[in-house]
Amino acid sequence: MTTPQARVAVVTGAASGIGAAIADQLIAAGVHVALLDKNVPASPAAVRRSDVSGHGDAMLVPCDVRDDLGVASAIDRVGTWRNRIDVVVNAAGVLVRSDIAATTPQTWQDVLDINLTGTFRVVQATLPYLVDPATAGTKRLINIGSGAADRGYAYPAYTASKGGVVAMTRQMAAELAPHGVTVNAINPGFVRTAINDDAWSDSEVRTRWEKTIPLGRMGRAEEVAAVACFLASPSASYVTGQTIAVDGGRGSSAATPV
Ligand SMILES: NC(=O)c1ccc[n+]([C@@H]2O[C@H](COP(=O)([O-])OP(=O)(O)OC[C@H]3O[C@@H](n4cnc5c(N)ncnc54)[C@H](O)[C@@H]3O)[C@@H](O)[C@H]2O)c1
Repeated sequence: MTTPQARVAVVTGAASGIGAAIADQLIAAGVHVALLDKNVPASPAAVRRSDVSGHGDAMLVPCDVRDDLGVASAIDRVGTWRNRIDVVVNAAGVLVRSDIAATTPQTWQDVLDINLTGTFRVVQATLPYLVDPATAGTKRLINIGSGAADRGYAYPAYTASKGGVVAMTRQMAAELAPHGVTVNAINPGFVRTAINDDAWSDSEVRTRWEKTIPLGRMGRAEEVAAVACFLASPSASYVTGQTIAVDGGRGSSAATPV
């Protein structure tokens, strides 16, 4: 009897926060994970399990999602590693706290280039692996959006980028459904990671934010990762084109925006 081959995932933004938690949980579930980030090394568990020679459960791949050629060559490396890609998670992202007046053309460009176009680049580069008649019905694409896509509390470039991610997710779900690829987005609420540590470490800001969350606290990266792992799993075979909020109920409450 032959052992079934492990599934292979690509996770961007895997050096920190939500991407790292997703990578850790996928690895724990037996998935082989390529951790892509402009910063390596990645999360502690992934580093422990990784084997840069390419025979372990994880591989660290330096990759800046702004770079077309860099993304293409990173995905080539992953393809050579296990000759398959089953799951793609786009978690790389930046938040620039810049209101309308202060947003320069460069800031606008940078945020869109990473959060929105970076997601598109990775999807396009992995497409030949996802669209495979032999494995149709088993491939999963997950994009990390933000509650900012639905509510006007964040900054213009970030909000536009995440609105784009959510809209693009619906488009990709429709285009790829005939190929048996499911495509979903997760909109985290306030999750304590490096992206917003400056705000969370200010107790006055944190208290104000937490008052707007029905569950009364910030989220943990692991709580977002658990939903991503479900969406990545064979169990999620009939879920596509959805955006799932993981936000302690904030998006559906009448609480005052921050
Ligand atoms: N933390 C939150 O409250 C929150 C809320 C909503 C959405 N999000 C989204 O979740 C995702 C993960 O963010 P996080 O909270 O874990 O923050 P984080 O800063 O901990 O992680 C972001 C990761 O993206 C990587 N990255 C940034 N630019 C990159 C580039 N050009 N190429 C490759 N990698 C790059 C960073 O190196 C980092 O490892 C982001 O898309 C973010 O917008 C976070």
